Amino acid sequence: MDPEIAEKYASWCRSIVVEASAPSPLLAKACEELVGGIGSMLGRMPLAGGTADHGRCVLLCAGNSSKLHGVVEAAELEALGEEGYVLRTAGEPGRPFVAIAGHTDRGALYGAFHFLRLLQTGQNLNELNIIEKPAAKLRMINHWDNMDGSVERGYAGRSIFYRDGKIVTDRKRIHDYARMMAAVGLNAIAINNVNVHETETNLITSELLPSVAAVADIFRAYGVRLYLSVNFASPIQYGGLTTADPLDPEVRRFWAERAADVYRHIPDFGGFLVKADSEFRPGPFTYGRDHADGANMLAEALRPYGGIVVWRCFVYDCLQDWRDRKTDRARAAFDHFRPLDGKFADNVILQIKNGPMDFQVREPASPLFGGLRHTNQVLELQITQEYTGQQKHLCFLIPQWKEILDFDTYARGEGSTVSKAATGELFGRPLGGIAAVSNIGDDANWTGHLLAQANYYGYGRLVWRPELTAEQIADEWTRITFGHDPAVVSTIRRMLLDSWTIYENYTSPLGVGWMVNPGHHYGPNVDGYEYSKWGTYHYADCHGIGVDRTVKSGTGYTGQYHDKVASRFESIESCPDELLLFFHHVPYTHVLKSGKTVIQHIYDTHFEGAEQVDKLVDVWRGLEGRIDGDRYASVLSRLQEQSKHAKEWRDVINSYFLRKSGIADEQGRTIY
Ligand code: GCU
Repeated sequence: MDPEIAEKYASWCRSIVVEASAPSPLLAKACEELVGGIGSMLGRMPLAGGTADHGRCVLLCAGNSSKLHGVVEAAELEALGEEGYVLRTAGEPGRPFVAIAGHTDRGALYGAFHFLRLLQTGQNLNELNIIEKPAAKLRMINHWDNMDGSVERGYAGRSIFYRDGKIVTDRKRIHDYARMMAAVGLNAIAINNVNVHETETNLITSELLPSVAAVADIFRAYGVRLYLSVNFASPIQYGGLTTADPLDPEVRRFWAERAADVYRHIPDFGGFLVKADSEFRPGPFTYGRDHADGANMLAEALRPYGGIVVWRCFVYDCLQDWRDRKTDRARAAFDHFRPLDGKFADNVILQIKNGPMDFQVREPASPLFGGLRHTNQVLELQITQEYTGQQKHLCFLIPQWKEILDFDTYARGEGSTVSKAATGELFGRPLGGIAAVSNIGDDANWTGHLLAQANYYGYGRLVWRPELTAEQIADEWTRITFGHDPAVVSTIRRMLLDSWTIYENYTSPLGVGWMVNPGHHYGPNVDGYEYSKWGTYHYADCHGIGVDRTVKSGTGYTGQYHDKVASRFESIESCPDELLLFFHHVPYTHVLKSGKTVIQHIYDTHFEGAEQVDKLVDVWRGLEGRIDGDRYASVLSRLQEQSKHAKEWRDVINSYFLRKSGIADEQGRTIY
């Protein structure tokens, strides 16, 4: 830190005064974080303890305290709710102090981290008056970690939770991770893959619960609740029953016993996350029951303890016949869940992927947002970059998530955004929030690609405050991670902000999606899924490309949206260019709003995208010597891989479409 700034801060941070009606572990952590954070930033440890009477201190408060009189009133504190906080400069001239006050100890903890962020980003402390409350109640992370130590769709090493079929015994990394989650405001974690295999099915059994409880203890200390993904067929696999029928009394008894056992070990256990009847996972369909039957049965088991069921809507036919042009995977979630609206118990939340497909670089928002009025819901995002470069490519996803959160469903007229639907505000639902698939692993830098940390960080910040801009988040993360050198900050910020568009440029065009190698999903393969049972996605022939999802002549998917949105997508004229091929099949010569034909757009964006990656490499090289050698080299090598691979994408896509369409590039560039 700049010595002048450090000196200024040091005068505020000589001591930390802690005030609470009852001391709590969370508050102790908040104080510990302040002491450690300030100490490491300023090179001088503040004193913990003491009184506020000498001024120039940080006052950390949970609940009302006489020291807050005239600074934060009781009513204001109460209005902060469970997790909000105030940061305010107060005190008499010559004896000012900064108050970090929460109504609860959890609020105070988040306030403490916010205070540290102010120092890290070089903010002035003289006139602080910050009042914060999270927009989303549930701010969750889903880990797709398996007990053998692998991470499904993980690109940052092995699991931090498991090794060789067991929960790790050295839990230092988990502890650091819990701190990191709290620092960005997250409050819930599911620690095992939604695809619950044999070993993981046993996580809810008496044999494994003690070690799960030890992990829950670590997270609890930072205000994070633990959840487990469960196998719907557990009554058969573990319970020795012959059925998992949700209406069977023995099955219900099985789950009630498991829930009781879980809560004996983990009194504040969050609940179950469930992937059922999806991609070969068992579910209620086997027994002729629906998803409400399945979810409500688990909800009943958890209800006595205040637990919730997070039930995923990622349900579609993955044994489709590619010749069948009526089945449209995009329709599936809505077709399954919309008829059940209102049938789910109050402690069930439906978890809905952001788009109707599967985390593609560009998708419209799922029509279930705004389509479900009487059901709790959470938005599911994917931080791990399964389809967006697998943390070998740079792809800062905050701009994409912002578009999703701001997407207007028109469910209750203008302004009915996905963000409001997910938080529960739109229809006054008691529960709601946002969940995302983690991108971390045991790599030293957590995320493989160092700059992919910005996605995790940004996720936390965005679900706390969806109105933050991508620019603000990129700026914050860059300063916190690399300091304040203006050249470094402006370069990295720009790289982050441009990266999603760049990635889209050289990969799948105009919203059509996929075009990846089947299975691992890395690298170009235009027909990878075209003749596949998992769904078919572009229908390119010698005349044109795209999927007709209109009501008029296609699969009828557009009709799942509210009128205003439906008509925008239904008509080729009003459908936005970037989603054109998701909604319409058009000739290659169709002219876009940009004035270019579809085919020329494909060529141009692919040449441009590959060039843009070369520029990323160049600008990064410009930072040599300005950031430490290790981080410089590690990012450089990822960018070089991206640059090579972007050219592979460019050439595969361009060649495919040149050969299909027979239409030459207007600029006569090399296409193979
Ligand atoms: C994708 C992903 C799978 C994952 C699934 C899910 O299909 O490729 O690995 O299990 O999503 O979200 O359940």
